[in-house]
Amino acid sequence: MADAVPGDVVDIEVTNDSGRYADAKIVLFQQLSPLRGKSPCAFSEKCGGCQWHGIPYEQQLGWKRQFVETALGRIGKVEASVPVSISGASGTLEYRNRIFVRGVFAADGSMSFGYFQRGSRNLVPINRCAIAGVTINRVLGRLGHAKIERPKSLLAVTPYRMELQEIPPQPGGSDESISGSVGEAKVVITVYPPSPDCRDLDAFVEGLRQTEGVFWAGLIKDLKAAPLVVFDEQDGLRYHTRPGQFQQVNVSHNRLVRSLVHELVDGYKPARILDLFCGSGNLSLGLCRADRYVEGIEFSEPAIATARENVRINKITNALYLSGSSEKHLWKCAKKGEQFDVVIADPPREGMFKDLIPLQKIGAKAIIYVSCDPATLARDLGALIRGGYQLKWVRSFDFFPNTWHVETIAVLEKSPEEKV
Ligand SMILES: C[S@@+](CC[C@H](N)C(=O)[O-])C[C@H]1O[C@@H](n2cnc3c(N)ncnc32)[C@H](O)[C@@H]1O
Repeated sequence: MADAVPGDVVDIEVTNDSGRYADAKIVLFQQLSPLRGKSPCAFSEKCGGCQWHGIPYEQQLGWKRQFVETALGRIGKVEASVPVSISGASGTLEYRNRIFVRGVFAADGSMSFGYFQRGSRNLVPINRCAIAGVTINRVLGRLGHAKIERPKSLLAVTPYRMELQEIPPQPGGSDESISGSVGEAKVVITVYPPSPDCRDLDAFVEGLRQTEGVFWAGLIKDLKAAPLVVFDEQDGLRYHTRPGQFQQVNVSHNRLVRSLVHELVDGYKPARILDLFCGSGNLSLGLCRADRYVEGIEFSEPAIATARENVRINKITNALYLSGSSEKHLWKCAKKGEQFDVVIADPPREGMFKDLIPLQKIGAKAIIYVSCDPATLARDLGALIRGGYQLKWVRSFDFFPNTWHVETIAVLEKSPEEKV
């Protein structure tokens, strides 16, 4: 049930009753849980973004751990022999380096921003987001006062979507990938107009670009011209992205996960590594060495183009990043008898159920599954365990404090006695 926490007393309306379980929505909060404290966000009661502002952080971590354990047991039927641990975040506010907001122009030409209320298209205006990075909030505040002329096609009633990505100070100078040196953190903005017919947006985009703290702004259709920017550096590698491309939202926890994935993979001394759902190479670039082969597969062609730029700029050899469907790629590898010692899989929320049969045929020694949805993770782990893998280890990471979302890494090893 969305937005209730233990201790709340609520009236509900059942929206779907399947016999075994029912879905319900809250119609009235009779009494609020004593666990609910004062929210650090002025908009959290209405805004659809965070569910747990005001809940003590230790409590949030406990629920997330329990959520993963329960999903593993109930959905995956995974025995409780593998305990789940959770790593809390170093900061619970201002941690997101990427947000999507909706923008609207009022009749007087002023711009405002907001998030949709949960389950509705009612815009809740905000002038800052408590979990967004400081630079994003600074720019959001400035845009609220910016004198940017309203394009006729952006009517006051039609919210347009806008992504703000925070980028750290850019190295500039000799690095050919950077189109201008930046000595401080800035923001890149991607605008998603409400309709492709909005053709009068040039001056508006230029106005965004001229706003202090904005490194680049552009329309989603113009991203080919967007600059390649560094979004992180770790262990001597520069991780690049472009506006509008996927990147993990919590930089410090992402570093922790990268290091852990590298440590885990290294432990298997692999000669061949497959990175499924590789994005721009976030998890596997740091694994590339002259004496072992890394292959990445990813749906998004722009992300693969960036992965290849990452390979080139970081002078990496022995790595191949390919665009395509993970399922088709796995079947192709399985039919050709290609082997990988370790497979890293970091699928989207829906998991990777369709990939599991060809994945098992490849028969890697170990699978390192990185997931942002405990339910689909549990379903997929259950299937892999029934298919001959053993669950060795599960650890969750709180990438998303003050929300119910949680990231989890699970390690599976091929059972010695099983022929997968
Ligand atoms: C959770 S992101 C992980 C990206 C990357 N591993 C990272 O850490 O930045 C999942 C990625 O899977 C890609 N994807 C989704 N469905 C896919 C599919 N069927 N085949 C290949 N890639 C897919 C998405 O485009 C997205 O980049």
